[in-house]
Amino acid sequence: MPTHVAIIMDGNGRWAAQRGLPRFEGHRKGIDAIRRAVRTATDLGIRYLTVYSFSAENWRRPADEVSYLMGLLKRFVRHDLAELHANNIRVRIIGEREGLPSDIRMLLDEAEQLTRSNSGLTLVIAFNYGGRQEIVSAIRALAVKVKEGALDPADIDMDAVGATLDTHGIPDPDLVIRTSGEQRVSNFLTWQTAYSEFVFLPCFWPDFDETAFQSAIDEYYRRDRRFGGLSARAG
Ligand code: IPE
Ligand code: IPE
Ligand code: MG
Repeated sequence: MPTHVAIIMDGNGRWAAQRGLPRFEGHRKGIDAIRRAVRTATDLGIRYLTVYSFSAENWRRPADEVSYLMGLLKRFVRHDLAELHANNIRVRIIGEREGLPSDIRMLLDEAEQLTRSNSGLTLVIAFNYGGRQEIVSAIRALAVKVKEGALDPADIDMDAVGATLDTHGIPDPDLVIRTSGEQRVSNFLTWQTAYSEFVFLPCFWPDFDETAFQSAIDEYYRRDRRFGGLSARAG
């Protein structure tokens, strides 16, 4: 089993458009798909599941869609936190906390605090997240340490950078799944996906179910991960 599966949940708008519904109906349905994905990941024994919920660039959408997505996150945390906690799930949030409404920031802090000692699946929610922005923040934090004399530039290595990212302590994704047929990364986990396997599924996110999840895992098993070396299957 992959240790860490990360998902770019795409296609809510098109799912809705296909049915003549407003885009927000697709987002609303997408929450059920997140719940299914969490259940499936738990059942499969996956240790880390990351879901890309709102990108740093999604602010470019119309204000009413942005505020709907903010409200949806709030409702999801309020409604599901107790159950996630009861299921021993540890919640981590990655992304820029500053710039979010203060009630959302408080909820996200609460979710992390409440579940921090849980030992089951780690659910990583990428919200207001951008891979490049995350790297820029890390560079800035390291530069501050250098300026303060607490860090020697010679000691800045890959481990030091990794430990300064929002994802510190979380292993890199083994598998990244993107739904909706788009084949791009859209600023997701730029640093962490250097050697991840990517699986692109045609289904829209609200239709993502256990079968779709399993098909991505099956595809992952057919891949030959070499990490620049030679195949374990060769020779
Ligand atoms: C993914 O669905 C959800 C978010 C990006 C928040 P989209 O809203 O991107 O749906 P499409 O890509 O327009 O169909
Ligand atoms: C990526 O989807 C972001 C999330 C799934 C949250 P987008 O729909 O925003 O990506 P682009 O704009 O098609 O690249
Ligand atoms: Mg999209």
